[in-house]
Amino acid sequence: MDVVEANGAKIPAIGLGTMTLKGAVCVEAVKTALRLGYRHIDTAERYGNEAEVGEGLQQGLRDAGLAREDVFVTTKVYHDKLAAADFQRSFDDSLAKLKLPWVDLLLIHWPNPAVPLEETLGVLCKARREGRARHVGVANFTTTLLERATKLASEPLVTNQIEVHPFINQSKVLAACRGRGLAVTAYCPLARGKAPGNAVLERIGKAHGKSSSQVALRYLVEQGIVPIPRTANPDHLAANLAVFDFKLSAAEMAEIGALRQAGGRVVDPPHAPKWD
Ligand SMILES: NC(=O)c1ccc[n+]([C@@H]2O[C@H](COP(=O)([O-])OP(=O)(O)OC[C@H]3O[C@@H](n4cnc5c(N)ncnc54)[C@H](OP(=O)(O)O)[C@@H]3O)[C@@H](O)[C@H]2O)c1
Repeated sequence: MDVVEANGAKIPAIGLGTMTLKGAVCVEAVKTALRLGYRHIDTAERYGNEAEVGEGLQQGLRDAGLAREDVFVTTKVYHDKLAAADFQRSFDDSLAKLKLPWVDLLLIHWPNPAVPLEETLGVLCKARREGRARHVGVANFTTTLLERATKLASEPLVTNQIEVHPFINQSKVLAACRGRGLAVTAYCPLARGKAPGNAVLERIGKAHGKSSSQVALRYLVEQGIVPIPRTANPDHLAANLAVFDFKLSAAEMAEIGALRQAGGRVVDPPHAPKWD
């Protein structure tokens, strides 16, 4: 598995998203992913599936003869738990449910203007100093917030997890991340089903013997962005990993880039942050 390096972290170039995956479906998806070659799993306290992700991880490591260190596990603390004591409790719960002494990456899931950023970054960075998070980062941070966060954090922030796919223009925040040495992790890389079947992606895919979904993922990989597509379907799991054996031309990249449109977001913030 290729990796994206950022501020000291080596992040496997594609990961498995697990939002909405629950119960045995989730355990099985994580196990199958590891068997197929995934080395990066994304969960969050909010998804309510950390116990299943932990179970799938344990079984998958055993079945595939892998060490814990071989798999990059991310979890997140939700925006309503960003005060220091709440954050600490949420992360303690996450580790307990995952049955892990540490995760590879701990993220602030969404910013929350009601809690001072200093306070949250303090407890986030403490988790790294204590070794309970190998790396720390943020999600859904704007360029302004990124600038503040990188100044305030005592530990390097390694990624900003944001919505990225062919139908959204994230050029400003992408540039801000790159300028500060952060990776970009792309959530909703398939735009929650808008990418599969898109006519332009489909046509480009045909020229490479690939599907529209694979083209959408390749479009991100070629920009050094780490997509975390979600599926429990074994065929889709395998297909989403098979994006490292072809290359899009500059003209194809430009054509895909032109699919971006105003209002292309598929995720609304869970609250209305009033950041300037
Ligand atoms: N930080 C945040 O605020 C945030 C927000 C949203 C999501 N996330 C993370 O990002 C992950 C991905 O985002 P998402 O789950 O919202 O959306 P997504 O990955 O863009 O889309 C998931 C959908 O794509 C379909 N799909 C997957 N692979 C496919 C393939 N090869 N061919 C055709 N269809 C395919 C899945 O259907 P099937 O099940 O039928 O395959 C599913 O309906 C989440 O699971 C979560 O881990 C983070």
